[in-house]
Amino acid sequence: MKALILAGGSGTRLYPVTVVINKHFLPIYNKPMIYYPLSLVMLLGIREVLFVVNPEDLEGFRKLFGSGENLGMSISYTVQHSPRGLADGLRLAEEFAGSDSLCMMLGDNIFFGHELVNIMKEARRDIEQNGGAYVFGYYVNDPKRFGIVEFDEEGRVVSLEEKPEEPKSNYAVTGMYFYDNHAIEIAKSIEPSWRGELEITSVNEEYLRQGSLKVKLLGRGFAWFDTGTHRSFLEASSFIETIENKTGLMIGCIEEIAYRNGWIDRASLLKAAERLDKTDYGTYLKKVAEGEIF
Ligand code: G1P
Repeated sequence: MKALILAGGSGTRLYPVTVVINKHFLPIYNKPMIYYPLSLVMLLGIREVLFVVNPEDLEGFRKLFGSGENLGMSISYTVQHSPRGLADGLRLAEEFAGSDSLCMMLGDNIFFGHELVNIMKEARRDIEQNGGAYVFGYYVNDPKRFGIVEFDEEGRVVSLEEKPEEPKSNYAVTGMYFYDNHAIEIAKSIEPSWRGELEITSVNEEYLRQGSLKVKLLGRGFAWFDTGTHRSFLEASSFIETIENKTGLMIGCIEEIAYRNGWIDRASLLKAAERLDKTDYGTYLKKVAEGEIF
C-alpha cells in the first residue's frame, strides 16, 4: 500500500488567513497542519507518499519534506492545476499507485485516538486481502458541511451524500480513505457534481453500489477535526496543545516516528533536533534521541 495526501485546494473557507499562504503550512499548535496526516501514514508503516499540491505551493512542500530522505521515506509531488475536487487527486495518482492499493488522507484532517493506528492497520489489512474501499464515520453536529453516510436499522450503509441540504444522519465520512487499485478507474469514470467538483463521495458511492464499501464508526475515544473553518482550526490547536502538555508526548512529530520506525538513525534525529534547537520541538527530539521519552 502507498499513501496519497491531498494538500491542494483554494482554501477560500479560511480567507483572509489563506490568501497568501496555503492552509497546510499553517500551524496547528506547534507544527504545520500537514505533519498530522503525514505522521499517520508513517505510523501505518507506509514509506512511499505522494502529495497533491497547488502549483504555487510546490516549492514550499519541497522545502518542508524534500525527497523524504531526512525521514527515511520516498516523498514525491504532483501538481493539481485547478481545484477540481478530491477524486481528481486519485486520477493524478495513477502513475504513482501503479498496481498498488492506496491510503488517501486529506491534508486538513486531524485524527487522535489511542486505538487509531490499530484501526488503520485493520483497514489496510482488509483492503490488501479483500479489496474494496474502507472509510470511517464520525458523529458531527453540522452534517451539511460533510459527506454523510446513512445507515439502516441493522447498521448497513444505505446511502452516501455530499454536503446534503437535508442530511439523513449526523455521521460524516472522515478524510481518511483506504482503496484498492480500482479506485483510480472509478475516479476516472465519475462526473463532476453540481459544484463542479469530482467528489470523493461519488467514488465511495460506486464502491457502495458494487457492495464493497466498508464504513467503520469512530466513536468514543476518538477526536476528529476537519480544519476547514476558523473555529475548527482553533479547536484543533487547543486540543493538541492540551494533550501534548498533559502527556509530555508530541502528536504528529514526524522525526520521532521515523526514528522509532527505524527509518532514520540517532545521528539523523540529533541533526533534526539541532536545526530546531531554539524550540520545544527541538528539545523534545533531543530527549527522544537520549532515550528520556519512550
Ligand atoms: C471533503 C469531502 C467530504 C468529507 C470531508 C472530510 O469535504 O468532500 O465528503 O466529509 O472532506 O473532511 P471538503 O472539506 O473538501 O469540503
